[in-house]
Amino acid sequence: MDTLLVNGLSIAQTSTRLRNLVAVERARLKILAGWFLRLGDFERKYKLAYHLYDAAEHVTWMRARLKEMRSGNPDASIRPELKALLEEVLHAPDDTAFLQGFYGVLTRQLVQTIEDDLTQVDPVGNANEHRLLRRILLDLQAQVAWYDSLPLGGDSAWAEHVSAWVTHIGGIHGQDATGDKPAAFAAPRFERPATIVFDDKITIGSLASYEDRLQMSPEQATVEQFRVFFNEFYAAALLASILFDASDGDYPWEFFADFSRHFWDEARHSEFGTVRLRELGVEPDRVNPILYEESQGLPVLHRVAYLTRGLEAYFMPRKPKRMKEYETNGDDRSQLFADQDWSDEINHVRYGSRWTDHLLEEDYRDVQDVIEEVKQHLTRMRGTPVTDINAPF
Ligand SMILES: [Fe+2]
Ligand SMILES: [Fe+2]
Repeated sequence: MDTLLVNGLSIAQTSTRLRNLVAVERARLKILAGWFLRLGDFERKYKLAYHLYDAAEHVTWMRARLKEMRSGNPDASIRPELKALLEEVLHAPDDTAFLQGFYGVLTRQLVQTIEDDLTQVDPVGNANEHRLLRRILLDLQAQVAWYDSLPLGGDSAWAEHVSAWVTHIGGIHGQDATGDKPAAFAAPRFERPATIVFDDKITIGSLASYEDRLQMSPEQATVEQFRVFFNEFYAAALLASILFDASDGDYPWEFFADFSRHFWDEARHSEFGTVRLRELGVEPDRVNPILYEESQGLPVLHRVAYLTRGLEAYFMPRKPKRMKEYETNGDDRSQLFADQDWSDEINHVRYGSRWTDHLLEEDYRDVQDVIEEVKQHLTRMRGTPVTDINAPF
C-alpha cells in the first residue's frame, strides 16, 4: 500500500487506484461475456448479464472521472501482475468453480478493496471518488449477496487457486508480488463456446414461425411469441461473443459501453419471455441457437452488421403491430414487455449505424458490402444460396 497523506488521498494515488479498478471491471466484463455463453443455468445467465452491465457502467463512470484528473489517462497500463490475475480468473474448469472464483474470490476482493479505499478517501477532499466508489460498492455488494445466496457448497480447488493468485499479487492495489506465482491449474483453458451452453432444463428445438403464429388463436400466439422472446438468448449470445472477442482488440471504450447495454437488453428480452411464459403457465424449455451458431466464423464487424443491420432490421416491422395487437386484446402484461422491447430496439439500430460506420471509416467497403459478405458466409454454412437476411421464427 502506498504512503497515505495524513487524511485523504492525492490525485496521483486516487488515479492509480481508479485505473486498477477500471482494469478489474473491464476484465470482469470480458469474463462475464465468456461465461454467459458457457454457464448452463439460464437464470444464472441473466444475473451474469445484469452484472456485466454493472461492470460496463462502472468503467464509464470511472473513465469519466479519470479524464478530469491531472495525469488521469484512463488507458495507461496497469501492472502486469494484476493483469495476469485477471486473465487467470477466466479459466475456471466448470460452472461452480467459475462462480466461486469469480464472485467468491475476485468480486469479494473488489468489494473489500473499495471498502478499504472508502476508509481512506476524505469525504470532502476526495468527494468525487467518495461519491463514485459508494455507488459502485452498492452494485458489487448486491452481486456478492446474490452469490452468497447460491447453494454451491464449500470452496473448490479452483477458488483456492484464485485466492493464491490474489495473495501473490498483494491484492488489487498491491505494489509488490509476494512469493512464487501459483502453479498452473491442471484443467483445460477456457474457450469461447461456438454454441450457447444450457443445462438439461433447456432443449434445442425449433419455434413456431412468424407466419404460423399469425394463424393461431391470440392465446396460443402469445405463448409462442414469448417463446421467441425467450429465444433472444441468441442475440445476447451474439453480443457476448462480440464483447468477448473485441476485449482483445483495439476498440474504443464507447464500443463496449454501447454493446454492453445492447447485450443486457437482449438478455432482458429473453427474461421477458421467462416471466411472461410462467405467468401463462408455461415453463420455458426450448431454444433455437442457430442464428448464434451460424455467426461464429464471422469477424466482429460482420457480427455487428449481421445483428444490427440484418436481423434486427428484419424483425423491426413486427414490433409496432404486436404492441397494437396486445392493446386490442387487453393484454396489459404482454403489452408492457412488447413496449419496452420496441423502444430498446430503436437504440439497437442506432448502435448498429454508429459502429458499422465507425469500423468502416478507413475501409473501402460500405455496410452493404459487409452484409453481402455475411450472406456469402451463410450460404457456405447452409450449403444453399442466402439472398436475404431472415430468421426461421
Ligand atoms: Fe431484443
Ligand atoms: Fe435488439
